[in-house]
Amino acid sequence: MNKIPVWIDTDTGVDDAVALVTASTLEELEIVGVSAVAGNTSLENAFRNARDVLSLVGRKDIRVYPGADRPLIIEGRTAAYVHGNNGLGGAEIPLSDAPQETKKAWDALYETAQQYKGELIVCPIGPLTNIAIAIANHPDIVDCIKELNIMGGALIGGNITPCAEFNILCDPQAAEAVFRSGIRINMFGLDVTHKAFLNDDDIDEIISYGNMVSDLFRDSNHLLYEYRAQLHWEGICEHDSCPILYIAHPDWFEGQECGIYVETQGTISFGKTVSDLWTDYKYEDRHCKAFLNVDRVKFTERIKEAYRSF
Ligand code: RIB
Ligand code: CA
Repeated sequence: MNKIPVWIDTDTGVDDAVALVTASTLEELEIVGVSAVAGNTSLENAFRNARDVLSLVGRKDIRVYPGADRPLIIEGRTAAYVHGNNGLGGAEIPLSDAPQETKKAWDALYETAQQYKGELIVCPIGPLTNIAIAIANHPDIVDCIKELNIMGGALIGGNITPCAEFNILCDPQAAEAVFRSGIRINMFGLDVTHKAFLNDDDIDEIISYGNMVSDLFRDSNHLLYEYRAQLHWEGICEHDSCPILYIAHPDWFEGQECGIYVETQGTISFGKTVSDLWTDYKYEDRHCKAFLNVDRVKFTERIKEAYRSF
């Protein structure tokens, strides 16, 4: 089987770690590179966490590149209340002894995109700062990337403000540059990721596997358990696994073609992903697909299969 080349750009928090673990077990994918960006946690933590999680799952052969330590224009923010001060909820895992890459994420991504000649799928699961810088520094990258499977945004609502989702709100100017770049975008916003949750039985089952990777899941998700209880959610959302599992199992997801742009001037609406999906007015340029539904059982079963395999 020809594996699908995939690049993951991550702000390596708790759900990012689940996405990396799951991605490492998908035989349909070849992870050809990972890059770190500041978001959930500092760049330093995101870079180290990505390296250490990949090492934990036996994939320290996958190179991890450092990216942006702050947004393009606005002040950075983190989400320590969910991801802890170290990005993994305070969980400690062995440090990777893989050589540390020093090449910047945007340059490594560009070189890899050129190598895969239009076949590379890029999965940004954190703020879009690295992707925006790659486009600015290497404009022809837009012709080298097959599509961007983005975890970010929301057609309805938000999680940090009533209008904005965390990854987009962290760097709206970067997000707007990416959405205007012309690269084909599959957007996995809160509309679908809020349906992609592990319920209590799923959580208990993963913890019951008792291996080092499931122990990381157990030890890193405790703040999310508390956060979810406060919001009376049915479970913990695995936002970042959506764009990853879509590549291997597109039939588990439902979406609709639309145009999407990012509000960078508003106050209340700052960071909102504005879609023409449900309006008479349609943008001229409609190169996005916004995902709205997922087969939760198949989605969660595949994540559990990943954690069972270690
Ligand atoms: O809003 C959810 C997104 O913000 C996820 O990518 C999570 O890791 C955080 O970065
Ligand atoms: Ca993330």
